[in-house]
Amino acid sequence: MRTIVVTRYGGPETLVMQEAPVPEPGPGEVLLRVVAAGVNYADIMQRNGLYPGGPNPPFGAGFEASGVVEKVGDGVSGYKPGDEAVCFCESGYSDYVVAQEIHLLPKPPQLDFQQAAAIPCQYLTAYHALCTLGNLSAGQTVLIYAAAGGLGTMMVQVARNRGARVIGACGSDEKCAFIADLGCDHPVNYREKDVVAEVAAILDGGKCDLVVESVGGDMTEQGLRCLKPRGMMITLGVASKQPAMFNAVELLANNWIVAGFHLFAYTEDMAAMMQAVQHLHQWLAEDKLTVFVKHALPLEKAAEVHEMIENRQTTGKVVLTTGYTP
Ligand SMILES: NC(=O)c1ccc[n+]([C@@H]2O[C@H](COP(=O)([O-])OP(=O)(O)OC[C@H]3O[C@@H](n4cnc5c(N)ncnc54)[C@H](OP(=O)(O)O)[C@@H]3O)[C@@H](O)[C@H]2O)c1
Repeated sequence: MRTIVVTRYGGPETLVMQEAPVPEPGPGEVLLRVVAAGVNYADIMQRNGLYPGGPNPPFGAGFEASGVVEKVGDGVSGYKPGDEAVCFCESGYSDYVVAQEIHLLPKPPQLDFQQAAAIPCQYLTAYHALCTLGNLSAGQTVLIYAAAGGLGTMMVQVARNRGARVIGACGSDEKCAFIADLGCDHPVNYREKDVVAEVAAILDGGKCDLVVESVGGDMTEQGLRCLKPRGMMITLGVASKQPAMFNAVELLANNWIVAGFHLFAYTEDMAAMMQAVQHLHQWLAEDKLTVFVKHALPLEKAAEVHEMIENRQTTGKVVLTTGYTP
């Protein structure tokens, strides 16, 4: 089978396609024939060697996929060959992946395979950051950074479904128009406008209950300036590759809560995961959630796809396709 390997830390050119044997599922594991591999910003951070606790090269790129169950290992009871599923895995940019049964979810029938590849990382992050950690409720106001990206488009929809007022910051007027169509109440082009001033104007001098920040650098401090006293800012990414800077004394002066978020701590929380999945099914059934796959390229274009994301040229979910059509 084909698999994309990060051969050393560095630019997109370090992604190399290699041949590897199809893996065998061990006890409690499932072999999935991949239709679409999800591409996430974390893949780029790992490739650059900037992901906290990330793998050392050489390692297989990608950690989520959608596809069809090919084979199951001893003790697997919830899946059988032919089932359609999504999963967290290692070496996601491959024709086949092995995943532990607990890291699989059935593919919802409302989504095609490319769309479903957004469930493991981006949907679950959007849900757990906004709902499980952020406790976002109806009538509150949330500011979401990088709102037109894969995670951002999920967050806009989840926040809207919670009944919140959504301010979405993103990097172009086209991206602003795109998230407005998704239900973002107030898109702001943060490459042209000052977010703090825009938020003040939108809220008549008011501030946000929750800010979800994923860019780092100056944006983190700027996000705090948009926050009410006792409000929460969730920091969950550093897309600018610049560390976030703020003065901790400001936190106590304003009663601000700053919370770090990393999805994998939440995937172990079965009660929270059941809530996330229950809401996913409800919102899909009510036609209140969808996944926008604007960029689906073949597996061999992995380097090109990384370059597009790093150059801020993508909106919505990005996937690599294997060419397998069940
Ligand atoms: N902690 C977690 O568990 C977790 C889970 C999922 C995602 N994340 C984080 O959430 C963020 C979004 O992830 P994603 O996979 O959905 O990616 P994405 O949003 O589809 O792509 C990243 C976006 O970041 C924005 N950006 C701002 N400054 C940038 C810069 N200097 N270079 C590149 N991009 C920049 C760009 O949007 P604009 O042009 O609109 O600014 C770009 O489209 C990432 O920071 C990621 O690491 C964290």
